[in-house]
Amino acid sequence: MDSKEFDLSSASSSPFSDRWWSNNTVAVVTGANKGIGFALVRRLAQMELTVILTTRNEGRGLKAVESLRNEGLNVRFRRLDVSDPASINAFAAWFVANFPALDILVNNAAVSFNDIDHNSVENAETVIKTNFYGAKLLTQALLPLFRSSSSSRSRILNITSRLGTIDKVKNEKVKEILQSEDLAEEDIDGVVDAFLQDVKRGTWKKKGWPALWTDYAVSKLALNAYTRVLAKRSRSVSVNSFCPGFTQTSMTGGKGTHTADAAAVVGARLALLPPHRLPTGQFFSWGPNYDTPRNSKL
Ligand SMILES: NC(=O)c1ccc[n+]([C@@H]2O[C@H](COP(=O)([O-])OP(=O)(O)OC[C@H]3O[C@@H](n4cnc5c(N)ncnc54)[C@H](OP(=O)(O)O)[C@@H]3O)[C@@H](O)[C@H]2O)c1
Repeated sequence: MDSKEFDLSSASSSPFSDRWWSNNTVAVVTGANKGIGFALVRRLAQMELTVILTTRNEGRGLKAVESLRNEGLNVRFRRLDVSDPASINAFAAWFVANFPALDILVNNAAVSFNDIDHNSVENAETVIKTNFYGAKLLTQALLPLFRSSSSSRSRILNITSRLGTIDKVKNEKVKEILQSEDLAEEDIDGVVDAFLQDVKRGTWKKKGWPALWTDYAVSKLALNAYTRVLAKRSRSVSVNSFCPGFTQTSMTGGKGTHTADAAAVVGARLALLPPHRLPTGQFFSWGPNYDTPRNSKL
């Protein structure tokens, strides 16, 4: 989808009646020193929420915050390495000490060690640990901190990828597990473990895992499945996934059909859906019908 074909004007503003948030509404964005995360922080701050920009590297984070403050935006900063459980716990403790409740969590932080046309699984463990377990462990740590309110609905937006949709998997057993109505968290962990075992044994190529950016795709496959499982058991928090499309960031070596700012306009719009229009357990993706969820079992 070329951004020129996609009219962002419908996504760029929110009707006044839809504005359920205030400057006391608190949003946390992970991996926000650059790319889509940085653009999302900027967009949410422009919408006048209280936004916490988090990064794994303090220097890069402070620089990012400074540039947003120079634009007149009010942004808070805290270091958070999602691949490090100690960092997650420290962040949760800091949050409790500083804020009454959390309204929005955007699990954006991710790594990929693949070039656009190159598939490598050398860093599969790091990719799974960051992109899947990082989002999952942070979510678990912050779940008790979400606001419970009748007038707003707390929400989690997992930034995912179409590379990790179920149709990319050729392994029938894995498909059956992930598409089961009774899917449990342990099943997802089991799928991820099986993938890492296949990588260790050198058998991953013939086991029907996604063919493009394989380790990254499996991490997003697991994140999509986790979105569904968590949504099913969380009554007060809405949990959805969003694929921002092929976006010009360092992850793609600057290639892509649209900018991080354009992806963030849509991401912010989804993160701010009014409570009466906010689904749960759904998969959204970049494009003209971005606010129509795709099949949740994607
Ligand atoms: N670009 C695309 O075409 C595309 C398409 C579909 C989905 N996505 C998803 O969009 C999200 C943002 O990606 P992007 O394209 O903006 O990539 P990016 O520019 O490479 O940004 C990734 C961010 O994640 C951070 N990060 C990596 N590991 C981390 C960790 N352990 N803890 C905390 N932060 C960490 C990076 O920090 P450092 O600077 O310190 O490395 C960076 O700020 C990702 O979830 C990605 O999978 C992107």
